[in-house]
Amino acid sequence: MCGIVGYIGKKRNAIDTLIDGLKRLEYRGYDSAGFAVINNNKIKTIKETGKVVGLQRKLQEEWSEYKDTSINLGIAHTRWATHGEPNHDNCHPHCDNNEKFAIVHNGIIENYQALKTQLELKGCKFNSETDSEVIVHLISECFEGDLAQAVAATVKKLEGTFGIAAIALEDSNSMVVARSGSPIAIGIGNDETIVASDIAALVAYTKRVIFLDDDDLAVITADGVDIRTLNNVPVSRETTHIDWDTTDAEKGGYEHFMMKEIYEQPTAISNSIRGRLDFKLETAVLNGLNFTPIEMAQINRIIIAACGTSMHAGMVGEYYFEDLASIPTEVEQAAEFRYRNPIIEKNSLVLAISQSGETADTLAAVKEAQNKGAIVAGLCNVVGSTIARETGRGVYLHAGPEIGVASTKAFTCQTTVLLMLALKLGRNRRLSGQDGMKLIKEINNISTLVETVLEQADNIAQIAKKYAKMNNFFFIGRGYLFPAALEGALKLKEISYVHAEGYHAAELKHGPIALLEESVPVLALANDIAGKDKIIGNMQECRARKSPVIATATIGDKSIEEHSDDIIWIPECSEFVAPIVTVVALQLFSYYFAYERGCDIDQPRNLAKSVTVE
Ligand code: M6R
Repeated sequence: MCGIVGYIGKKRNAIDTLIDGLKRLEYRGYDSAGFAVINNNKIKTIKETGKVVGLQRKLQEEWSEYKDTSINLGIAHTRWATHGEPNHDNCHPHCDNNEKFAIVHNGIIENYQALKTQLELKGCKFNSETDSEVIVHLISECFEGDLAQAVAATVKKLEGTFGIAAIALEDSNSMVVARSGSPIAIGIGNDETIVASDIAALVAYTKRVIFLDDDDLAVITADGVDIRTLNNVPVSRETTHIDWDTTDAEKGGYEHFMMKEIYEQPTAISNSIRGRLDFKLETAVLNGLNFTPIEMAQINRIIIAACGTSMHAGMVGEYYFEDLASIPTEVEQAAEFRYRNPIIEKNSLVLAISQSGETADTLAAVKEAQNKGAIVAGLCNVVGSTIARETGRGVYLHAGPEIGVASTKAFTCQTTVLLMLALKLGRNRRLSGQDGMKLIKEINNISTLVETVLEQADNIAQIAKKYAKMNNFFFIGRGYLFPAALEGALKLKEISYVHAEGYHAAELKHGPIALLEESVPVLALANDIAGKDKIIGNMQECRARKSPVIATATIGDKSIEEHSDDIIWIPECSEFVAPIVTVVALQLFSYYFAYERGCDIDQPRNLAKSVTVE
């Protein structure tokens, strides 16, 4: 949460690069935005509440001639408020009382209150309610002529998580960054260096990126980067080549990133699969897991730790691993995993699923699992993200950047990868070559099936429009479609702000059915797979309570018509593929529903793309 950007170089105006970077990071938080640059021997800051476009407007109003000045160094921030409401004073960057230093911060300083009290006793004046402001006052207090030394001394006093970028008026040729728990990526350009919380802000300028590790501090200049520990011991970090394109992180003619990403799914899924199906050995090839066949055969339990959409993908994975590989599997909400003191046995595999690879609770679960001696693997989309690096083994989705706050292509790629992993684990056990090949063919066909769903977009839009005034929804499913129902409800509530609950269809009668009435539609996932007959019964129960029923049904399955008011048609597929394909239809339903209600689809209120706080 929160995005930070820093620029140093002579190639372009720092402010334009900072604003461009903020726009690309806005999905990390959009409560307020601001930047600080060194100009005319002063630190100049401009801040504005709300989105980056507001900051841009303010820049034009207050300093339209900035382009005439050569500004080589600056830091910027887009905020997701934790401490203090999103007002002007709480916007980053924050300056010390003499305006000689400025910082931007992503993360949470847990001991800020104690530090603030100590600083206030020494006469320091605070201008905001944020936890972050203590950082800049501490830097000012610790400064003895060297910003890197002052930042090192400061961060040693901090408890919590941080990614920090700091500048000092005395030194307009460098910037200092440090991290503990919140990501910092450094883009190495020619005569310029760009720093950001996320590579999305860097790929327009360079493809060469260094990711800082926890407790690293780096002095950034236009010529490169000097990384050291907090005790000033030089360390070297590998340079990663990023293959994302700038256009991957732009809307490409779509009105919203969410829609672009929904439509990208056939390609994204193909990219997740590419080179990973072995037709000869009738299995999947997932080299990043780094398991020998013997190690793999020893895995006797799988625990999946994840949050939100990634957790729903994990729930589909649970069915896969048990059905195809006979490995007992459980899914844990990652925060619960961390605090519940889970029992980890020898040969337990903990699989952390995270699109961003930065989710704080999932990262904490990874650390807890490692601490307890589990084999830990990551399933991430963002290359070089903290979870991907922390786990050291795993599978990348290769879905390309997901910018819309509502996760879409991550879900379908995660489930596809989980299916490939189940195939691999299954073939390593009892799954026959024949069944392996059958599955390979199904996996290979997922993109085509998703395209068929996308062709139904107009029909889905009509249905969404028809129900767009309703304020309460239930999504119900069974078996493989139960996690899909949870994901459908999550999508609807997060982008349209209507109350939507996902339930196991059988659970409805154990309480929630009391809420059913004419104004509460039920979206029943009634595809022609195991459990269909039972869900038809549940649909009848709903209609008997006057709830309108929208069903998903397999193309050509007329039997659903008499039990539903509206139907979203899904192409025929096995139960393994059904949740992947059906969720695409639910994504479209939510999109059109939210669109009809005039919601801010890519940046829903109160949300941020990567949840880097507990
Ligand atoms: O980056 P992650 O996959 O770890 O994120 C987990 C959740 O925060 C995320 O899926 C969230 O639920 C999405 N907004 C759902 O659309």
